Amino acid sequence: MAGKFLDFKTNVFLAPMAGITDYPLRKLVNEKGVVNLYSEMVAVNAINRKNPKTYRIADVSKENYPVIVQLVGNDPLLFADAAKLVADLGAYSIDINMGCPVKKIVGNNSGSALMKDLALASKIITETVKSTNLKVSVKFRKGWDNNSVNAVEFAKMCEDSGASFIAIHGRTRAQGYSGEADWNIIREVKESVNIPVIGNGDINSVYDAQKMIEETNVDGVMVGRGALGNPWFLGQIHNYINLKEEPRAISPIELKDALLQQLNDMVYFYGKEMAVSISRKYVCWYSKNLRDAKKFRETYTKIYDYDLAVKAIEDYFEKQEETVSL
Ligand SMILES: Cc1cc2nc3c(=O)[nH]c(=O)nc-3n(C[C@H](O)[C@H](O)[C@H](O)COP(=O)(O)O)c2cc1C
Repeated sequence: MAGKFLDFKTNVFLAPMAGITDYPLRKLVNEKGVVNLYSEMVAVNAINRKNPKTYRIADVSKENYPVIVQLVGNDPLLFADAAKLVADLGAYSIDINMGCPVKKIVGNNSGSALMKDLALASKIITETVKSTNLKVSVKFRKGWDNNSVNAVEFAKMCEDSGASFIAIHGRTRAQGYSGEADWNIIREVKESVNIPVIGNGDINSVYDAQKMIEETNVDGVMVGRGALGNPWFLGQIHNYINLKEEPRAISPIELKDALLQQLNDMVYFYGKEMAVSISRKYVCWYSKNLRDAKKFRETYTKIYDYDLAVKAIEDYFEKQEETVSL
């Protein structure tokens, strides 16, 4: 079957991105193609304290497609409790964040800091697996820095601890999100375990996705930044790598409609004021290949009113050329 990856609908995954892969984005990307979706990361201590904002992020019960909910933290027992809570809130499967490079997270001995403590990382995975019937996966990096590249050892630990699959981002913590992702380490990880492996990093075209599969033999691919401003991208990857269908050009009118739909769903989810504020970054991403983008962004940044925001988006996208390559 095309794109077979365990019982997921495809082998193509939208990467978890804090502040981005929220309900409005997941809904849109799901409508535009065949793709598996992650949530934003959910802090285990906050969800266990029943923090309302965190609960809202974790609640995927109203979504009629599977969502992998990602947990972050460092206490195995809090992970176990959090896994039960997110299962009740509709998670299709549970992912453990062992790759986040952000200071606030690693300072808490969470995210990629766990790559330096395999015993604790293993305990977190085993306790989470014990607490739920859902699949538990782990997302991690090449290593902490170039002097401590341990992705292969880490991958084996994940498998031995009961992870159903893993996702590896080919950068070290020290690299953050810059420099090149190392696809060799992705191949080495794939060769070292029997559970399915997802490769992540530097996929910016459908051809990159195909190349990663050929070069590393991974079972699935994951894309983050390449999907920003292009909700069709993941579906196009699915269609290309599994069905050999070339991606089509997206028209400015389609971009406008997608952006307005996202804005509307943001209004429902966050309220009008916050929706307009969040939409600013999307306006930049959606207009990145269009004419007069700089001027439009400058104007849009000064808009606070929802109706004016809609009008500005309509005016800008409707006066563009027929088609555009993303
Ligand atoms: C704004 C932003 C937020 C992110 N948040 C998370 C997160 O919450 N959890 C996680 O595991 N990775 C997170 N990541 C990392 C991505 O999932 C992905 O590994 C990374 O962007 C590399 O893939 P790419 O080259 O396709 O963007 C984030 C990345 C970005 C750019």
